[in-house]
Amino acid sequence: MKIEAETIYKDLSQKLLNIVPDSELRHLAELACEINQLKREKNAIILCHNYMTPALFHSVADIAGDSLELSRKAAQTDRDIIVFCGVKFMAETAKILSPEKTVLLPADKAGCSLAESITAADVRMLKERFPGVPVVTYVNTYADVKAECDICCTSGNAVAVVESLNADTVIFLPDEFLAKNVAAETGKHIILPSLLPGGSEEETQIEYQMIGWEGRCEVHEIFSVQDIINVRKSFPDAVILAHPECSPEVTQAADFSGSTSAMINHVEETSAPRYLLLTECAMSDNIASARPDKEIMRLCRVRCPHMNEITLEGTLNALKYNRYVIEVPEDIRIRAERSVVRMLQIG
Ligand code: 13P
Ligand code: SF4
Repeated sequence: MKIEAETIYKDLSQKLLNIVPDSELRHLAELACEINQLKREKNAIILCHNYMTPALFHSVADIAGDSLELSRKAAQTDRDIIVFCGVKFMAETAKILSPEKTVLLPADKAGCSLAESITAADVRMLKERFPGVPVVTYVNTYADVKAECDICCTSGNAVAVVESLNADTVIFLPDEFLAKNVAAETGKHIILPSLLPGGSEEETQIEYQMIGWEGRCEVHEIFSVQDIINVRKSFPDAVILAHPECSPEVTQAADFSGSTSAMINHVEETSAPRYLLLTECAMSDNIASARPDKEIMRLCRVRCPHMNEITLEGTLNALKYNRYVIEVPEDIRIRAERSVVRMLQIG
């Protein structure tokens, strides 16, 4: 084993020995070593979402974070290649912000149920139906949808973005639950267009300040208030954190709600006897492996199948064979960039 692979192996075994068998750890360390070597040769950077599996997360990431942090880093890097260990909409955002770089996604299919839930034509239809109302689009959308909106947001800045608009009414797409959570925090009444009776005359009789869409995250929609009640029955001292893609009933019953990085920071900065994170389960593994002094409970029914497409093998092949290259047509990119940059300027 090379010295670098040995160092990675030692670090991974400290963090993951009880989770991953030793022989597999050796193999993963060799892969990570090869990736890091190629990364240097090709002047590449690896951006890694918090949902990557622990072996990948703890061995090859140059920067790890939530969607907002990774968008910022993608805009700032001076490397020639960005390898995005996340899903396609995240890699697309990197390409939107750094068109001169080669952006690689280590899997050809790494989608997102939210990004699949809405098209650019849907946004155009809403703009026609609600003329003049500003459109906020969650970053979990594809570039052509971002191109149709006024400003993007992430789970980390959604409230600030909506408030920055100072608008009486806002269209917020496509995550129904995130929209409802933001509506609750900003004191707005939200409607879904499909629940409105047709015809503008009738529409004006219903009071609303926010117009949502029926997109859902297939992972976060599964958590229920009953899950929280069950856990609290056995572990009343557990601090329960929920991602804002969970339903408003769940986020309200939880002790804390925030982006993936906000949840990690909350665990870091507090000292509860135990924590339960209602989010994609790899993130709990990452925290548990980095902080053995913290008790992290698991309620993992579903691993995000899209994030799960990204592996160390795929990341190595991405660098070896220059794949899968993310392209965004320039006319769409320019319009999408406006919405993403406007969001980044909010701070
Ligand atoms: P964050 O921006 O909080 O990292 O969320 C991204 C995501 O896809 C959550 O499911
Ligand atoms: Fe999309 Fe949900 Fe997977 Fe995040 S966890 S990438 S929102 S499907």
